[in-house]
Amino acid sequence: MDYKEIDTDVLILGAGGGGLRAAIEALSKGAKVVVVSKSLLGKAHTVMAEGGIAAAVGNVDSKDSWEVHFSDTIVEGVYIGNWRMAEILAKEAPERVYELERYGALFDRTPDGKIMQRAFGAHTYRRLCHVGDKTGLELIRTLEDRILHTEGAQMLDETFITKLFSDGRRVIGAMGFSMRTGEIVVFNAKAVIVASGGLGRLYKVTSNSWESTGDGIALAFRIGAVLRDMEMVQFHPTGMVWPPGVKGLLVTEGVRGEGGILLNAKGERFMLRYSPTKKELDARDVVARAIYNEIEAGNGTAHKAVYLDITNKGPAFIKKKLPAMYEQFKEFAGVDITKEKMEVAPTVHYFMGGIEVEAETCRTNIPGLYSCGEAAGGLHGANRLGGNSLADILVFGRRAGFDSAEYSKGVHLERVSKAEIENEIGRMSSYLNGNAESPYPLVEELRTTMSEKVGIIRNENDLNDALSRIRGLKERSKAIGVAGGIKFNQGFMTCFELDNMLTLAECVVMSALERKESRGAHTRSDYPKKDRGYKLNILCRFEDGGVVLDRKPIPDMPDNLAKIVKEEVY
Ligand code: FUM
Repeated sequence: MDYKEIDTDVLILGAGGGGLRAAIEALSKGAKVVVVSKSLLGKAHTVMAEGGIAAAVGNVDSKDSWEVHFSDTIVEGVYIGNWRMAEILAKEAPERVYELERYGALFDRTPDGKIMQRAFGAHTYRRLCHVGDKTGLELIRTLEDRILHTEGAQMLDETFITKLFSDGRRVIGAMGFSMRTGEIVVFNAKAVIVASGGLGRLYKVTSNSWESTGDGIALAFRIGAVLRDMEMVQFHPTGMVWPPGVKGLLVTEGVRGEGGILLNAKGERFMLRYSPTKKELDARDVVARAIYNEIEAGNGTAHKAVYLDITNKGPAFIKKKLPAMYEQFKEFAGVDITKEKMEVAPTVHYFMGGIEVEAETCRTNIPGLYSCGEAAGGLHGANRLGGNSLADILVFGRRAGFDSAEYSKGVHLERVSKAEIENEIGRMSSYLNGNAESPYPLVEELRTTMSEKVGIIRNENDLNDALSRIRGLKERSKAIGVAGGIKFNQGFMTCFELDNMLTLAECVVMSALERKESRGAHTRSDYPKKDRGYKLNILCRFEDGGVVLDRKPIPDMPDNLAKIVKEEVY
């Protein structure tokens, strides 16, 4: 097979908010930048952060400050987040929001013309700067506009990366193929930023679209990048449940932020029982578990859901504040949310875990390899606050772009060797075999396993069962293949995605087995309490083709930060 080579300073995997913000920064430092995305430009999971960007600008609640935002982030991450990342986020998010506005984002306004902010779960103050319920979409639109008007950026969409290369000391490039043309591409790069998002598609019911199979995280892991907190999977409390074709689609937390309440099938406002003070606006893990328990207790609807009701706000308010929700329910479910209740249930939305990075620079343990956004772990600890993801991609996307551009000035471009390229071409060819087992049933089995055995509530038996099934699938996946060629062959891409998902599923399950306590999004029915012995991070390393776990103590917080945060209670 033929291939073409592209040389660059900074190669960015992913064109969501993190990748685009990194590209803007690296370009502004004079670096040559190539952004590669698996799907069409403009289509990223970023758009599923609908309700807003968390930033303590204090326009609506003037008492808000970076200190309170920092504290909320650490407390809701149940004290295992990277405190330096949380500090940077809380301090820099306001400037990144204003910058986005300067780039052209059209935020909703307060009556006196400032950027409007709304309430979101477990944020002490109304903090989410928003554009109706389409904030992520506006963020992507704005960043894309900016890049497309900047000279020097090369954007390759519908391009799937199958491998990263290192020379044993540092990252030197990547390889993949264009789905549109079938062409194989080798990238020789001085620095690589993994900004390719999370892996919600590991589960059957998810708000994530088809791209979120964790590819970048798995590729980085295989060349030696350390992963952390992989057991921490966020179930967003409210996804659509009906009709089946849209099951899992996000129903923004903005609905609850604007006054929506949750009711079980008996009409009870059950959050009063689970969280009398914060009610519907408690942390996502608390609300998701409450909904799950109500449904398990037989208090759910026929579709195994609960109701979300915002009808008391009236049509004008709802259509202005939640236009996407109004359209989504009307179009897909035939439900008019200004008059009728929505049916909702938890949906996998976000992975708190990911590639371990250094807070200031987003460097990984491999020189030249960076990560930001959902692909990176650390900031959110055991549980992410809504709206912190959009702040995250702006703040750390910028930092990753800056440092990678600086780094690339000091290293020479090394080329991926012919032998490595031929090896990878060999792997590609092995998947082009119509007589081999199709990857699709394996993907289906993997998703069923994760949904049934590694869900909101976990236990040792289920996790062990999941692990042996995943390892069985790994064996079977050695002989998968599909008919046809590379061009527009979804099945061909699925072979690689399956490999990536299996690798990461093993990390998730092994980490979940290792954490014998309940903390944040990780709930063990056999270890229902939080345990101070597990105030640590679980790391995953790739060694001899398998996953090795390590435990990492949480570094002490400096006094100036420690005094801001409530002490942890056991
Ligand atoms: O509910 C939402 O709008 C999601 C926001 C987020 O995940 O940050």
